[in-house]
Amino acid sequence: MNIIDIINKKRLGVKLTEKEIKFAITGYLNQEIEDYQMSSLLMAITLNGMDLEETIFLTKAMVESGEENDLSSLGNVIDKHSTGGVSDNVTLILGPIVASLGVRFAKMSGRGLGHTGGTIDKLEAIPGFKTELHMDEFLSQVKEIGIAITSQTGDIVPADKKIYALRDVTGTVESIPLIASSIMSKKIASGASKIVIDVKVGNGALMKNVDGARELAQTMIEIGKYYDRKVVCVLTNMDEPSGQAIGNALEVQESMDTLQGKGPEDLNELVIKLAAIILGLDQNINAMDAVNMVKESIASGRAYQKFQEFVKKQGGDLEKMKIASKVISVKTTKTGFITHINTLRLGELARNLGAGRIHKDDDINPTVGFVITKKVGDYVTENEELLKVYLDDKDIVISDLLDCFEIGNSLGEKQNLIIDIID
Ligand code: URA
Repeated sequence: MNIIDIINKKRLGVKLTEKEIKFAITGYLNQEIEDYQMSSLLMAITLNGMDLEETIFLTKAMVESGEENDLSSLGNVIDKHSTGGVSDNVTLILGPIVASLGVRFAKMSGRGLGHTGGTIDKLEAIPGFKTELHMDEFLSQVKEIGIAITSQTGDIVPADKKIYALRDVTGTVESIPLIASSIMSKKIASGASKIVIDVKVGNGALMKNVDGARELAQTMIEIGKYYDRKVVCVLTNMDEPSGQAIGNALEVQESMDTLQGKGPEDLNELVIKLAAIILGLDQNINAMDAVNMVKESIASGRAYQKFQEFVKKQGGDLEKMKIASKVISVKTTKTGFITHINTLRLGELARNLGAGRIHKDDDINPTVGFVITKKVGDYVTENEELLKVYLDDKDIVISDLLDCFEIGNSLGEKQNLIIDIID
């Protein structure tokens, strides 16, 4: 078997065998296959696709490239994943809510990629927060307080780590079989028995349209079935940021507000829905009861107390968290309805301000970012505030921010955050 034949086969649209896929993944990890050869194979997969069987073989080869966590000592464990978006702090809110209701929430999270943020970067905005837990610490924390979040270790799906970095720079990120196998291999190896995936759709997400997002969801559900793991996918809108905050400390603050029932309406609605799905999966209760339990946990303060307990347990000190003190209010120059928000561009502008990385090893400035005060469908009059910018050592061009908001005369429609639930 050799890699050139495998590349040629996929280039011609011929189905690959399990052995060929395993050969390519193992060879690349062992440095027997070069970056340029793997790039070529990834591009052939991006252009010609893979059927479900090939995608499962690819996921299997990725899972087998590293270690698999054994979470069986914890019983039923729930994991949650997002395909990546702008202003996506859902995990920080959802985890404490469900843990306060008896769910065991054990999550391995990543850092930001491109214009999208990562949960680990957000948690690191809290001074002292330890994002690298040893497996025994991780397990005992989940047993003790019901929730732990740690960064993905190199031992879990090392093939994905290497291939993802290559995809990021070779235009091969937006491929359904590659995304599905990347996400599902990590979820399977991480060990949870039930997995809820937030599939973001829209101009600020990897999946730009609903049909593609449905296909991705269906593929991940099928991979889950192969591994006997229950997967539920929730398609959510990323044509505008969810909630209002973009930037690490700002998103932690927004999470704390939401956990106390004072968060933005759309984000609140999303986390209640996701938490109810998780409760339903974990405790086999009906949707209405689950929603009521989630609302009660927020209203009684239990969810927020669980967040504080979780942060303290991992060494974080919320009192010391800083948000940049220099604040600029950005005001519109037009009157009308907001018809479109360029979410991708807002994510890039926040990243350029220091909220994310341009190069892999860049430091993040956790204090900077935006708080969006107007969303799609809102009516604004000239000189009304669209957003606030929190900045530190880098400047921003205000017209670049204004260009992210399209304002027209037609009545803009408010957007639903939840598009569909597929299981
Ligand atoms: N998130 C992942 O982990 N992998 C992808 O390919 C895309 C989003």
